[in-house]
Amino acid sequence: MSKGITPGKFIALEGGEGTGKSTQGRLLAEALRKTHGLDVVVTREPGGTPGAEAIRALLLAPPGQGWNAQSEALLFAAARADHVARLIRPKTLEGIWVISDRFVDSSRAYQGGAGGLGDTTIQALHGFGSAGIRPDLTILLEVDEVARLERLAARDGDESDAIGGRSADYHDAVAMSFRTLANADPEGFRVVDGTGTPVEVHARVMGAIAPLLLDQAS
Ligand code: TYD
Repeated sequence: MSKGITPGKFIALEGGEGTGKSTQGRLLAEALRKTHGLDVVVTREPGGTPGAEAIRALLLAPPGQGWNAQSEALLFAAARADHVARLIRPKTLEGIWVISDRFVDSSRAYQGGAGGLGDTTIQALHGFGSAGIRPDLTILLEVDEVARLERLAARDGDESDAIGGRSADYHDAVAMSFRTLANADPEGFRVVDGTGTPVEVHARVMGAIAPLLLDQAS
């Protein structure tokens, strides 16, 4: 980093499918650009770089018999390592804010919690692949089951990917895992109620990230 540049903040949006992460990521980026004059990049996981996008295709539409739990966790960690090295780290060091639709807490909730691999394993892969980096803040968007299923039906219809299409029990376990992670780290997470219109939820997200803006100003 050249002298005098304040590193950009790194914000992750987390939650199950249909919780509105992508919409909120877009609205947050617009607000940070227009109202606060910040440089902002919006990205996603799995993906965000050409290599990680190629791994995304393998994960969401697996060839052959699909992946076992270990291979799946390794592929997510490999995609993340590329994303961190080639996008998240360099952009934040240039002073650009990065908003990622999902990050390592998705692996902790899906593969570690719901998938049964455990948090220690996921953290070890993240330590090896990405030096264990954490977002400056993780926003966990929560919506109740009924709203979630309605949004998913509107978005995906009968089409869902290899992970989105797993059982309701699996997705309940994901939601519980996310909540457990957030409760264990109140500094690192803000839990945001994702019910209501996108504009209503956006106002809550702006409230949640306000301390990062103060930080930037000081
Ligand atoms: P995507 O369509 O991007 O998610 P969403 O439905 O939230 O818009 O698909 C990503 C899928 O990958 C989603 O089902 C969550 C899953 N996933 C994991 O299981 N582990 C991970 O580490 C990440 C980043 C995603």
